[in-house]
Amino acid sequence: MFEIVADSTRQLMAAGLLLSYCGFCIWVWRGYRAKQQVHTSINDRLIVWASQSGNAQQLTQQLQQQLITAGKPAHCLALDQLSTTHLQHSKQIIFIVSTFGDGEAPDHARLFLSRLSADCNLQHLQIHILGLGDSGYPDFCAFATQLQTRLVTQGAHVCLPLMTVDAMQASDLELWNLQIAQLLSIPAQASSHYQPAWFTATLIERTHLNPFSTSPGLYKLRFKTAHNTWQAGDTLLIHPHNNPDQHTREYSIASSAQSNYLELIVRAHYDENNTVGFCSGWLCHSLNIHQSIEFSPCSKPNFHAIHNSKPAIFIGAGSGIAGLRAHIAERPTLSQNWLILGERSPLTDKILAEELGQWHKSQHLTHLDYAFSRDPISPRYVQDYLHEHQQRLTDWLTQGATIYLCGSLQGMGRGVQHTLTQLLGEEQMYNLQQQGRYRADLY
Ligand SMILES: Cc1cc2nc3c(=O)[nH]c(=O)nc-3n(C[C@H](O)[C@H](O)[C@H](O)COP(=O)(O)OP(=O)(O)OC[C@H]3O[C@@H](n4cnc5c(N)ncnc54)[C@H](O)[C@@H]3O)c2cc1C
Ligand SMILES: Cc1cc2nc3c(=O)[nH]c(=O)nc-3n(C[C@H](O)[C@H](O)[C@H](O)COP(=O)(O)O)c2cc1C
Repeated sequence: MFEIVADSTRQLMAAGLLLSYCGFCIWVWRGYRAKQQVHTSINDRLIVWASQSGNAQQLTQQLQQQLITAGKPAHCLALDQLSTTHLQHSKQIIFIVSTFGDGEAPDHARLFLSRLSADCNLQHLQIHILGLGDSGYPDFCAFATQLQTRLVTQGAHVCLPLMTVDAMQASDLELWNLQIAQLLSIPAQASSHYQPAWFTATLIERTHLNPFSTSPGLYKLRFKTAHNTWQAGDTLLIHPHNNPDQHTREYSIASSAQSNYLELIVRAHYDENNTVGFCSGWLCHSLNIHQSIEFSPCSKPNFHAIHNSKPAIFIGAGSGIAGLRAHIAERPTLSQNWLILGERSPLTDKILAEELGQWHKSQHLTHLDYAFSRDPISPRYVQDYLHEHQQRLTDWLTQGATIYLCGSLQGMGRGVQHTLTQLLGEEQMYNLQQQGRYRADLY
């Protein structure tokens, strides 16, 4: 009897000690959290980015580096990571945001404005917004404007008026850099910093990939170049006819840097008057073998590979295969890879049939689904395969798969985004984006 009482007393004492220890830990942790919040909110500047193809993200990192070099701590955040707490505890936030689609936010930031509580009072907050865009689009820098309007409506003060960068022009960037340096009391960046580097590549082979097709010509161009430091998912910029007075055009790099070649897959683009595009016409028809192009590589961090052996789902149509091909080539052996590729006709548009067929045969591509929109027997769009193989889609995603989507936004991207959202729900799409497992390069 005495032993039982002694035992339960000991147990009670042990439980009490354990509880006090837990309480102490929680107290220490709360103190640490509070200190951290004060640390990031009061002392540090916050630079927040929203980026589809990486420009805004890259500029954010450059500005952070400038601040750190000047001895001023700064934190970077993606817009979708910016919480009410951040907004309420920050004195000043610099936003660098691009516009995508038809005047919309980049994918990862799509829900920011709708999720921002209208009750969040921002009267203590100073903001500056830099918008990245392209005046070739009707809604130039529309998302930057929407963001500023909304934050100001909730009380934020503009400490430097909204500035814009048109097609990443060096003159716009330099002007912004001068202004931001003045605002933040840091030395301005050397102007040469934003000048893109240009390299030379010589055309050695051009293959017509769809010679019998009713679709406009699709060509694979193979170049030799001494510059081979790109990553799968990157693109390059070219001035049509190497003429710097012409607006640059962007093309996905279709080959792995480990191959000896730089390859592009280019669609000869025709307008409504049947006039061939200035740059694609030059690349597909008039650039001669042994002639050279000047190109500037463009890093696309949001479209780089996630290096793991979890499954990968590649979705593209037409020239979209260009942005997927290097990714597929670089996937680890024995990994699970599924390609859904859209084109028009099964008879004339099975582009890269031999190469993709080999990958399929060797199981490097576990599944290869061609979706032919003008197949007389079973016409299909790429998103139809997502419906058809919904179980596989959800199984692969449960195993940690990443989705890579590349090609035309209007022709394919919107439909795929819609179907994925329908099948998986807004929440899972949001989570995939947050985890970097939904990677898109749409144009
Ligand atoms: C990220 C990205 C990746 C791409 N990858 C590929 C690819 O791998 N393969 C492929 O075939 N195409 C790709 N494109 C499309 C390509 O950049 C060109 O838009 C296409 O080749 C048409 O250019 P063009 O000079 O032949 O036509 P244009 O003579 O330019 O005519 C087409 C129309 O587009 C407008 N336009 C085109 N580019 C610009 C620009 N930079 N700024 C403003 N207006 C513009 C023109 O004003 C015109 O209305 C990609 C585009 C982007 C944004
Ligand atoms: C498919 C597509 C749609 C775009 N839509 C717009 C637009 O509506 N308005 C605009 O100003 N710029 C638009 N742009 C241009 C981008 O904003 C510009 O290229 C910017 O530098 C991209 O920055 P990011 O790499 O940070 O996303 C669009 C670009 C692409 C490829």
